[in-house]
Amino acid sequence: MIYHLDTVSSTNDVARDSKYRDGDIVWADFQTAGRGQRGHIWQSDEGKNLTFSVVLEPKFLTVPKQFLLLETVALSLADFFEKQGVTVAVKWTNDIYVGDKKAVGILIEHSLCGANLARTIVGIGINVNQRIFPSDIPNPVSLSLLTGKEYNLRELLEEYEECLALRYNQLKNGEWDILERDYCNRLYRKDSPHLFAYPDGTRFIGTIRGVKPAGELIVEQENGEVKEFLFKEIEFVI
Ligand code: BTN
Repeated sequence: MIYHLDTVSSTNDVARDSKYRDGDIVWADFQTAGRGQRGHIWQSDEGKNLTFSVVLEPKFLTVPKQFLLLETVALSLADFFEKQGVTVAVKWTNDIYVGDKKAVGILIEHSLCGANLARTIVGIGINVNQRIFPSDIPNPVSLSLLTGKEYNLRELLEEYEECLALRYNQLKNGEWDILERDYCNRLYRKDSPHLFAYPDGTRFIGTIRGVKPAGELIVEQENGEVKEFLFKEIEFVI
């Protein structure tokens, strides 16, 4: 069920309430404290974009398999954009890009129960009708900027819900090869040499070759050596 709220701090925080169950969506017109990855804030003009959190209870998934959930969400968004006539790439680990611009941010927060996931809040910010962005947002783009159209947010959210249901069923049904294959095929900057940086700022040219099942990025160096990187061990230079 979709719960539409006016103003909240962050939909990810609201969605923690145990009254929201598996599959519920908490959607707000405005967030006063929208959160991004790595402690960043998520800014979005009131009523212009989709800012929502999906509650999932993936109790069937063990902690080491959690990257599959991220793949599921990224692919559901890629499918959704494809339906709008826009081809996107997934910037490892979970940004949705059109060219070199970011159209969606995803913030996934898990609670665990022993060796398994218990409850996952999938926070999603899709840039939809906003056409002007603050200058401190690095490289934003919106559906409206891409297609020239103005969108009905509820209709879009319902369409997205269907896209997520399809990919989540693949996850539940154990169709993990499909999710891993499709995620790899969607990778931003795959199979062509690009500039990357280590956390200390040192730059190097590498070619993304894929992602390991647990999420490590596989990058071939210029000398042919292949390395695997964990989250925060490598930065894209865009
Ligand atoms: C990122 O790219 O840094 C992740 C951004 C995630 C933003 C969404 S908007 C809805 C949900 N509520 C939040 O506070 N954050 C996520």
